[in-house]
Amino acid sequence: MTIEGDRIYLLGATGRIGSVILPELIKAGVQVTVYARSPAKVPKAENITIVQGDYDDLTPFENSIAGHTRLFLLVADREDLDKVKIAFGTRAYAAGIKQLVELSARRLPWRSYNVVHVHQQAEDALYAIKDRGYHVVLRPTNFMTNMTDYDTIKNDNRIVDSADSDEQQEWISPADIGTVAARILLQPVEQHKDVAYELIGDVKTPAQRAAIISKLTGRTISYSQLPVQELYDFFIKAGETPSMAYYMSTYQSLSPVSRGLPLLLGRAPEKLEDWAANNKDLF
Ligand SMILES: NC(=O)c1ccc[n+]([C@@H]2O[C@H](COP(=O)([O-])OP(=O)(O)OC[C@H]3O[C@@H](n4cnc5c(N)ncnc54)[C@H](OP(=O)(O)O)[C@@H]3O)[C@@H](O)[C@H]2O)c1
Repeated sequence: MTIEGDRIYLLGATGRIGSVILPELIKAGVQVTVYARSPAKVPKAENITIVQGDYDDLTPFENSIAGHTRLFLLVADREDLDKVKIAFGTRAYAAGIKQLVELSARRLPWRSYNVVHVHQQAEDALYAIKDRGYHVVLRPTNFMTNMTDYDTIKNDNRIVDSADSDEQQEWISPADIGTVAARILLQPVEQHKDVAYELIGDVKTPAQRAAIISKLTGRTISYSQLPVQELYDFFIKAGETPSMAYYMSTYQSLSPVSRGLPLLLGRAPEKLEDWAANNKDLF
C-alpha cells in the first residue's frame, strides 16, 4: 500500500494510539520519522528515524520536518494542547506536507468542555491556514481504556460512573483509532481530502459493561452509580485537573455507532466485549 516517495512523521508513537500505528507503517515499508521524548521506548526498524524532542521546544521538529509528505499529529492531554498542536501543524504545513492527520475528539456543544474545546480550537486554526496540504481529522469518542485508568475494577471489582445503569454510552477501542489512522496514512491523500471522521465503535450501558467484565474475569464486577459531586471529587483526588474531572464526571452525549467505520477500518469495529477480551490483563 506504500506510495512512492512518501515520508510520514509520527507524534505519540509510544502511546496507546501511536503504538498501533507504528507497526502498521513499519510493515508497509514506508519511511517513518518518530518524534519522541524517550527514544529508548520506540521500537527499532530499518525504515524508522527517531528525533528526540518534546512539546516545549520544537527546534528538533523544525529541523527535521522538511521532506516529509504527511504528519500524524497527536498531542497528549494538557491545558495548552491547542497551542502545541497549532505550533506543530503550522510548521508542518509551512514545510510543505501534503496531508496532516489530526487526532482530535468528538465535537460537543461549543465551549461546553475545556478538554474538548482545545481540540476544536486547534482543528479550526489548522483548517483555516491558507494554501495548506489536506487536513484529515479523527474525532474519537471515549476510549475503552478509560474504564481501567483508575483500576477500580482491578482493585475494587467495580465500575464507577455518574450515569444511570441503563444509560447508553459511546465507546471506541484505541486499536480501532490507530488502525483507521494507519490506513489513512497509507492511502492516497486524495481519498480523504479534508474530511473529519467521528469515531464511535460501540454503544453500551454501565450495566452491560459490568456484565461483560464479570463474564470475562469470572469475578462479580458491580456498577456503582455515584452522585456527580462524588465522582468529580474522585477524579480530583486521582490528580486530574478540574477541566478533566468535570468532563469525565459529567460527559453525556449519545450518537449511534459510526456507520462509516467498517469502510475506514476494512473490518467491523471492535465491540466492547472484543476489546475487553483482548485486554483481559487490565482487569
Ligand atoms: N481518552 C479519551 O477518551 C479520549 C477521547 C478523545 C480524544 N482523546 C485524545 O487522545 C489523545 C491521547 O492519545 P493516547 O491515549 O494515545 O495518548 P497516550 O497513550 O497518553 O500517549 C501520549 C503520547 O504523547 C507523548 N508525549 C506526552 N508528553 C509529551 C511531551 N511533552 N513531548 C513529546 N511527546 C509527549 C507520549 O510519550 P511518552 O511515551 O514519552 O510519554 C506518548 O507517545 C489526547 O489528545 C486526548 O485528548 C482521548
